Amino acid sequence: MPAKKDPDTEMTGTERLLGGGTMEDDAQGELSLRPRNLREYIGQKKVKDNLGIFIKAALARAEALDHVLLNGPPGLGKTTLAAIIAREMSASLRMTAGPVIEKAGDLAALLTNLEEGDVLFIDEIHRLHPAIEEILYPAMEDFELDLVIGQGPSARSVKLDLPRFTLIGATTRPGMITPPLRGRFGINFHLDFYSVEDLQVIVERSASILNAQIETEGARSIALRSRGTPRIANRLLRRVRDYAQVEYDGVITGEVATDAMNRMEVDRFGLDEIDRKLLVTIIEKFNGGPVGVGTISAAINEEKDAIEEIYEPFLIQIGFLNRTPRGRVVTPAACHHLGLDLSAQLDESQKDLFK
Ligand SMILES: Nc1ncnc2c1ncn2[C@@H]1O[C@H](COP(=O)(O)OP(=O)(O)O)[C@@H](O)[C@H]1O
Ligand SMILES: [Mg+2]
Repeated sequence: MPAKKDPDTEMTGTERLLGGGTMEDDAQGELSLRPRNLREYIGQKKVKDNLGIFIKAALARAEALDHVLLNGPPGLGKTTLAAIIAREMSASLRMTAGPVIEKAGDLAALLTNLEEGDVLFIDEIHRLHPAIEEILYPAMEDFELDLVIGQGPSARSVKLDLPRFTLIGATTRPGMITPPLRGRFGINFHLDFYSVEDLQVIVERSASILNAQIETEGARSIALRSRGTPRIANRLLRRVRDYAQVEYDGVITGEVATDAMNRMEVDRFGLDEIDRKLLVTIIEKFNGGPVGVGTISAAINEEKDAIEEIYEPFLIQIGFLNRTPRGRVVTPAACHHLGLDLSAQLDESQKDLFK
């Protein structure tokens, strides 16, 4: 059977163990591990609290929820949250993605098929074609669809009324959302990387759904190496479970988890081969930076988008990489972690960057 193309299960980045993007075997696993309501959604307290209030208020007024923009790195729970919103609003959910909508007619068809109160989820909304994005403006603001019928001198425009619906947009690149589009979302949430404590709860919850025996130390050890990302935590859990099953007695202890992750070359900070290659390349080929992301991309043979969306945010978050106006700079903390001496390679002007 051909794999179903669902925006939710499509890869969002280079295929790798620690990418936030989805991989084949996540796709099935994620469905069962995905929290179904706000109560099951772990962490992101601010987002949850506020969202809970907006949903309650909209329900009390018997109105559709205002349009919601969700932004944050891959794997932090944007798609999950969209599904939860629809469920909590008792609305039906239609899912699509920016790159999938090729023609104005595609979006018009989606919009005209909506019913009162429905939720339309557009993943990777920053990748909508500008001409298509413009159709969204009146649809979001006035619940109207402006259609041009015919071509040339006989073309005329018609307006169609749309039902009141909720648009949920998700993006890994908030900076790429145009101001007119951004301005039309009444609710705008940023998802942060998760704390180790929250990830540990997620790992324990997932383990119990998967019927995997796990000890507190095992869950903590996986949480520590999950780059603040639930999708990665779940993926590591499944792989560690494999080791526990084949090479141990099935129980995921701290020791089993650590051994398994070391063997998968996931280090203490959750960095993998590509992260290390990125940092080592900047240190060894570019004296620690500053170096432009395009140059890094060519040097390590990874797509520029993947670097900016997947690798960098976490490296910046843990203080291993800085973004400066002149380019990316590796920090002394990263050098220390990698066991490389950067100071020997720095010139005076670069030293300023670390102050
Ligand atoms: N807050 C959360 N609590 C528990 N599990 C979560 C949470 N957020 C995400 N997950 C898990 O991580 C997986 C990836 O989340 P997803 O919503 O697909 O991320 P995104 O759309 O931001 O890339 C989900 O299938 C779910 O199992
Ligand atoms: Mg998603």
